[in-house]
Amino acid sequence: MTRLVLDCDTGTDDAIAIFVAALHPELELMAVSTVNGNVALENTTENTLRVLDLIGAKVPVHAGASRPLVRPDFPIPRDILNAGNPEFQVAYLDLPPSRTPVHETPAVRMLIDTFMDPANADIVLVATGPLTNVALALAAEPRLARKISRLVLMGGAHLGGNVTATAEFNFWVDPEAARAVFSSDIGEIVVMPLDATHSAPLILADCDAFDRLGTPAATACSRFLRHRIEQYHQEGDTPSAPVHDALCIAYLVREDVITAWGHYPVSIETAGEQTLGQMVVDTRPWATARVNAAIAYKASVDIFRDVLMTAFKATG
Ligand code: BDR
Ligand code: CA
Repeated sequence: MTRLVLDCDTGTDDAIAIFVAALHPELELMAVSTVNGNVALENTTENTLRVLDLIGAKVPVHAGASRPLVRPDFPIPRDILNAGNPEFQVAYLDLPPSRTPVHETPAVRMLIDTFMDPANADIVLVATGPLTNVALALAAEPRLARKISRLVLMGGAHLGGNVTATAEFNFWVDPEAARAVFSSDIGEIVVMPLDATHSAPLILADCDAFDRLGTPAATACSRFLRHRIEQYHQEGDTPSAPVHDALCIAYLVREDVITAWGHYPVSIETAGEQTLGQMVVDTRPWATARVNAAIAYKASVDIFRDVLMTAFKATG
């Protein structure tokens, strides 16, 4: 059994990640924290509560940062950013409104208290949104980094970006936070970048398989995935879409879901005119900087889909 805490910015792919984390028989979701990202904090928090309520999961939800670490807001306003972007997310997920209140402990406090407790040394931190909460917690408690043995995160791209030509969304929203996390002493950082998530896209037949399962999570995920496929579909392509954040969770259950790795020094660009938020990977064999990340390059879609199906069979 793997215990995890999930820090996320719930849009559709985070929602699928939460369902898998809460339902998979080999995982125990201890807490969820929310952050500004896909949509505003108020929406990511409400969306997270909706997802957990739908399956009756009693997992505390802690609200976190409503804006990036040092920037007043996004580098580009959301409406301009969203034009033509297949990752466009609606404010509220199409699920019944939440019935459970948000936990009174703020996200950063929860992260510090959880990981400073020696009884929780085994807990994996998973981050599927901008890294603002994680960076704030590391800054507030300098001993924290050494207490987090493993951070698995969705972010970055070795080759090409999605929000700009060079940057992936999560790192671009809060590049300073991402940079702080990569320069910290966290035991192990496992990165699921766009290279890996786009190598294991799901298709309409997966939606049909979820529909046949018919559980609340499966049905909701089928809807979210159909929407994602519609947004991603380009004429001439096989309709498919990546489900970025859920790959982090699948990896906790089946490490062999990742079929190609690189181990390199990684930093995040915080000043570039055209490269803000870019994940800078130093692949030079003679690089002297510390190897601080394991980067996933390729994933097995068959294993990915197996993990999702196993989780969605559970009714919670
Ligand atoms: C990442 O950004 C968000 O749109 C998704 O939820 C995912 O975490 C992909 O770039
Ligand atoms: Ca996300």
